Amino acid sequence: MVQLKDDSSEASEHSTVIKAPEEQKPLWPYLLLTVAIALLAIGAHFIQKTSPDGKLPCPFHAAFGSLSNLKNPHNPTSDDPVPSNEQTSQTEQKEQTSQTEQREQTSQTEQREQADQYDSTLYSEELVYGSKKKLANVYRGRVLTKPELAEHGPSSERPWVAVLGQIYDVAAGKRHYGDGGSYHFFAGKDGSRAYSTGQFDDEGLIDDITGTTVQQIGEIYHWINIFSKKYPFVGRLEGPFFTAGGLPTAHWREVEDSLSQLNAIEKEKGEVRRKFPSCNSHYDQGAGKAEVWCTEKSGGITRDWVGNPRQLHLPGETVRCACIQESLLDDPKLKEYPDCEPTSTSCKIKLN
Ligand code: HEM
Repeated sequence: MVQLKDDSSEASEHSTVIKAPEEQKPLWPYLLLTVAIALLAIGAHFIQKTSPDGKLPCPFHAAFGSLSNLKNPHNPTSDDPVPSNEQTSQTEQKEQTSQTEQREQTSQTEQREQADQYDSTLYSEELVYGSKKKLANVYRGRVLTKPELAEHGPSSERPWVAVLGQIYDVAAGKRHYGDGGSYHFFAGKDGSRAYSTGQFDDEGLIDDITGTTVQQIGEIYHWINIFSKKYPFVGRLEGPFFTAGGLPTAHWREVEDSLSQLNAIEKEKGEVRRKFPSCNSHYDQGAGKAEVWCTEKSGGITRDWVGNPRQLHLPGETVRCACIQESLLDDPKLKEYPDCEPTSTSCKIKLN
């Protein structure tokens, strides 16, 4: 026979020291939490100690882009901007900080505001050359130094290249960038200038783009479009385009200005193309003759009018055939084709 123990009598005997079992809260969740916090603290400490530049190469931060740019407490001179969603630990520290530390925090706040402001401009279409949000990666990821980039040269396991201070992991393109590859010289450095000039020697493979034209900057930037589609983005390079804290420099602003200008030029060209669509054409060089004609789709512009062929003279551009709607036929930039009826939708041309 099983004897039942009377818990209630025992409980009453020790009621001043021992709580009844059903009222006692389990301790294991607290223990688990303490162990987890301790492990995290040890992990963070270890990462900071082993990082050669004092930045945090934690994969968690890398995966979350801008979060990776935490200010390193071991590197007080660093001007790393602190992202706005990383404020919890700062609030805890606030009460303990000295006046000097508080001053540092003020400057951090300024930098953060500056950074947030900058970040938002990156998403405006005007600053993006080529297609939408191409600059989305800029101002994200880690900030690396030139020696760190140099470790990823052509003979490294994972070659990296940098263009305008943007670093990409081009390991997947090792046949181009690895030893013996046609473009091995780009690996481990920012050779921005050579992406436009094609001067692939020590003099040409430099990150100094002073004196380049707006068009050349567009050509260089074009490689960011290519790399960002093909290769993983690593981070920004401390150099002419970004500070050690990853903030944009005057040179980077020049790049942005050039992209804005190129966008404006592209926009204007688009308007001209819509206003003066190109004609269809057929050239017979052997017979020395050609024909130009207009349709509702010529020049790739679909419209509800056909237009008449005219020679279009635009400054700085070669003369081309454009289909002109009736209301614009008096434009002084236009010239009729010889021996062609002004109201005809097609003209035959004699080639010299
Ligand atoms: C300013 C001049 C040039 C620059 C900066 C340049 C740069 C590059 C780069 C960076 C790549 C590797 C792209 C990747 O990672 O997928 C590449 C590939 C290539 N380039 Fe050039 N290049 C230039 C001129 C030329 C010229 C003039 C030719 C041909 C006459 C050429 C032919 C090729 C070919 C065939 C590939 C390989 C494409 C592939 O296999 O995917 N490049 N170029």
